[in-house]
Amino acid sequence: MTDYQCVSYEVAQGVGRLTIRRPEALNALNGQTLSEILAVALAAKDDPNLDVFVITGEGRAFVAGADIKAMVDFTSEQANEFSALGHAAFAAVAALPCPSIAAVNGFALGGGLELALSCDLIYASDKARLGLPEVSLSVIPGWGGTQRLGRLVGWHVARELVLTGRQVKADEAKALGLVLDVFPIAEFAERIEAIIASIQKNGPLALRAAKKALSQGYSVGLSDGLKAEQQAFSGLFGTADQKEGMGAFIEGRAPNFVRK
Ligand code: CAA
Repeated sequence: MTDYQCVSYEVAQGVGRLTIRRPEALNALNGQTLSEILAVALAAKDDPNLDVFVITGEGRAFVAGADIKAMVDFTSEQANEFSALGHAAFAAVAALPCPSIAAVNGFALGGGLELALSCDLIYASDKARLGLPEVSLSVIPGWGGTQRLGRLVGWHVARELVLTGRQVKADEAKALGLVLDVFPIAEFAERIEAIIASIQKNGPLALRAAKKALSQGYSVGLSDGLKAEQQAFSGLFGTADQKEGMGAFIEGRAPNFVRK
């Protein structure tokens, strides 16, 4: 197992669990942490046995943003490199072939919300607070916030959150469509496990094909997206798991998938 300084990564029973671990800085993302997230995401990408990838934070924050203390004296050139590193790390998370979950236990601000936005599904605890407060520091979101937020919740809401820097509590984040659901912190881990199980009971090859088609729809026009869906749909036929999934339905039994 690789030794990381600022994160931990564990894989068990088809689930990859990335935890950001700088609780003394509310898990703020410095260069080291971003490099480790990138390394984990690249390793996860090549793991054919992964069904679900989950990100959470240690302590009372998911991630409270980019590390302000690391950035304060940056030149424009250094800021550009830091932005590029964050983009690379979050693009690697977004490009994971299996479904990903942001389990937002606490603060998800600035780069923390941008990390969550690079996941497929975002759930929050009732302790979470989310937002893009960068303009209050006289900077702007630098890791996808001005692009991914609008694609998720609509441009009007994104403009309001980016231009005011307002932070929202978990319930409002749910009302805005920013998080899918909110769970009490005491049951948070258990509720996330239930969501993982509800994904994992499905055909693993189908999960990856569905994610691929959904991801295409995110970045291309409708007609190219529909073509990508057709390709992903038909590509599953002839696999052992497709025969098993449909066969089990017809025979009235639970399927036993083999990732082939
Ligand atoms: N960077 C560096 N350190 C941070 C941090 C950050 N983003 N957020 C919190 N910390 C540190 C604090 O400095 C403090 O450290 P010390 O104990 O050494 O003073 C420790 O974490 C605990 O934080 P607080 O004492 O502030 O805790 P709180 O409960 O009073 O407040 C908070 C919590 C509201 C999240 C507050 O810490 C805060 O506002 N943090 C900054 C949030 C922010 O502005 N994020 C955006 C960063 S810019 C960005 O992300 C750019 C980008 O898109 C690339």
